[in-house]
Amino acid sequence: MQEKRKQLADLRSQRWLAPDDMRSFAHRQRLQQMGLRREDFMTRPVIAIINTWSDLSPCHAHLRERAEVVKRGILMAGGLPVELPAMSLGEVMVKPTTMIYRNMLAMETEELLRSLPIDGAILMGGCDKTTPGLMMGALSADLPCLYVPAGPMLSDRYNGQVVGAGTHTRMFWDEYVAGNIDKEEWVALESRMTRAPGTCNTMGTASTMTSIVEAMGFTLPGATSIPAMDAAHPRMCAASGERIVAMVWEDLKPSRIFSRAAVDNGIIAYMALGGSTNAAIHTIAIAGRGGVELTLDDFVKVGAGIPVLADIFPSGTRLMEDFYYAGGLPALLEQLKPHLALQSLTVTGLTLGENLARCAASARNAKETAIRPLDQPVTDGAALAVLRGNLAPNGAVIKPSAA
Ligand code: FES
Repeated sequence: MQEKRKQLADLRSQRWLAPDDMRSFAHRQRLQQMGLRREDFMTRPVIAIINTWSDLSPCHAHLRERAEVVKRGILMAGGLPVELPAMSLGEVMVKPTTMIYRNMLAMETEELLRSLPIDGAILMGGCDKTTPGLMMGALSADLPCLYVPAGPMLSDRYNGQVVGAGTHTRMFWDEYVAGNIDKEEWVALESRMTRAPGTCNTMGTASTMTSIVEAMGFTLPGATSIPAMDAAHPRMCAASGERIVAMVWEDLKPSRIFSRAAVDNGIIAYMALGGSTNAAIHTIAIAGRGGVELTLDDFVKVGAGIPVLADIFPSGTRLMEDFYYAGGLPALLEQLKPHLALQSLTVTGLTLGENLARCAASARNAKETAIRPLDQPVTDGAALAVLRGNLAPNGAVIKPSAA
């Protein structure tokens, strides 16, 4: 215990535990004002849970309860959890677009992590701009951090047809405008497609970004594919809480995990997922915060020869729940091993290759076809192309299959 106490004091000496300074005294005083004993925080890593829950963020509706599970994991591992609310960007609810608030969330995350007396952080989010916002801030602050994805919502069917949040709303709107759906049916559709809390169940921006962040090494293996309402989700939350405490002892900061190789792993995963074109913008922003220079052309270069393997809307025909049954992201990455930088370090303290070896037993369920083998891709061509012209002199990304 003596040794751990010294280790913690060393870790904090640059930040907030200089024993004889007035500011540190005030930190300790105010923590005790909240009913904490001195030993509760002096000998334990203090872990922030940056939570983007709100009453108007349906994709994060369950994160308030999940934060309690994360706390359990932190406490069981000998840490002290403190929950910090952060800007909640519920994509569909926010007008005119959440894009204008992504950088605000990044700034908020960075300032929370820099200004408060904490040793490590769990980042809880998932809806589109939340993942890049949280990751950008965390990379700048460079405190040990681990991302806990909200997880996709459950699948739904309508008239026997698989319907995905987002993609099918537009399709039904067209049908309604064309008079093929009457008012009664249109109103009935409001309660369909979004069956439960969680992020959109297609490979839209939310699941694309959480998958990229997982491939970069910032979640527990397989975390992004777990449906929000599956019992595996709270188990993952508890395990994440447990792991972040160990990461503080190991001083496993983002700067030890994030690298050009980690970014390339994210891009390769993106290409095989046939993910959202928005990911190009967000990945470049994340890379910049981590000190990696990335351009649109790098997506084309790094992703050359990677076919789309995930048969998920909008590139494919299935939903995220099917992707989970098929083994989720680890099963996809397993097939991409020859292209990945397997030596990249991850939040587990192991390399990506070591994580994949551990997932192998529970990996791909060959009977589920949401993840295609390399020799039977969804499309042979790349998931993304960069166009330049008088409308976009600096380049714009498109999905070639949708062009
Ligand atoms: Fe939140 Fe789609 S609206 S993930």
